[in-house]
Amino acid sequence: TEQPLVLGIETSCDETGVGIVRGTDLLVDAIASSVDEHARFGGVVPEVASRAHLEAMVPTIERACREAGVALSDLDGIAVTAGPGLAGALMVGVASAKALSVALGVPLYGVNHLASHVAVDIVEHGPLPEPTMAMLVSGGHSSLLLVPDVTHDIRSLGSTIDDAAGEAFDKVARVLGLPFPGGPHIDRVSSDGQITIDFPRGLTSRKDMERHRFDFSFSGLKTAVTRWVEAEQAAGRDIPVADVAASFQEAVTDVLTRKAVLACREHDVAALQVGGGVAANSRLREMARQRCEKAGIALRVPRRNLCTDNGAMVASLGAQLMLKGRTPSDPSLPADSSLPV
Ligand code: KG4
Ligand code: ZN
Repeated sequence: TEQPLVLGIETSCDETGVGIVRGTDLLVDAIASSVDEHARFGGVVPEVASRAHLEAMVPTIERACREAGVALSDLDGIAVTAGPGLAGALMVGVASAKALSVALGVPLYGVNHLASHVAVDIVEHGPLPEPTMAMLVSGGHSSLLLVPDVTHDIRSLGSTIDDAAGEAFDKVARVLGLPFPGGPHIDRVSSDGQITIDFPRGLTSRKDMERHRFDFSFSGLKTAVTRWVEAEQAAGRDIPVADVAASFQEAVTDVLTRKAVLACREHDVAALQVGGGVAANSRLREMARQRCEKAGIALRVPRRNLCTDNGAMVASLGAQLMLKGRTPSDPSLPADSSLPV
């Protein structure tokens, strides 16, 4: 067929995602999340995630096929997240994908999780401009990627040197007494707040911009928020949660969008794609839109449920690999928790 029918499996963290695409058309994005099981621990527990993937895998594959109206025997290829991610969680997806590939006699494509966050934009907005700058901001990653071609030679320009952006949202939310995962709660309460506190912008000093031009750091910001809250509590004052949240959110989005636009300018790239769970943040979307417009950069942000981890992104990258004639993975494909982009 001209447009390959590809099933993609994602199990790098706490979402069991199964997506099916036909070329650049998204047919279905089925997801089962174990996030509620992790909430009482305040973070993702690897052992709990692996077990949840095992239980959810077959039902989620069946549901995806049913909703897309395709039979497994119609598939032209299987794609799976090979890394980076939680080792045990990745293994469940990789083993399932290998079994499907062998049983159906179709090629297997092990893909990089970061690259597939970029590739999902193709099913949303069509072919990616080449090159594209991608900013991936999630609970596990904060990276700026120079993407000449989503199937080939992606280069990381920088990434976080400590906490990921989403991790900072989650930790600050905890300090403010908001539930896990905290990002959406910070986003929500911030809309009633004022930006009243000037929290630090990590790695933006002149010296840091030489050594860590496109790197991020959020742990200093998290500490600054914690200290501020503790000082207020010690003084017996009520915490203005909405203002603290809005001020924190402003500091994160300021640094992210500033460095992303600078990366586009310096590398002569006219399109910025933003993905990962934090790309759901309303202030980040707004600030990115304003700054890109001013700089003449085309901004591409997929809808929220395609920004967070899902199977459609893996299927989309698998289809691109097939369309570009890339070599499939060996049936011995390993899960690699620290797979480089
Ligand atoms: O991509 P994702 O679903 O999973 C990985 O980490 O790979 O991202 C989850 C992260 C969490 O840290 C969550 O708090 C954050 O994305 N997040 C948000 C928002 N929605 C999700 N952060 C800020 N604002 C949001 N609206
Ligand atoms: Zn992710």
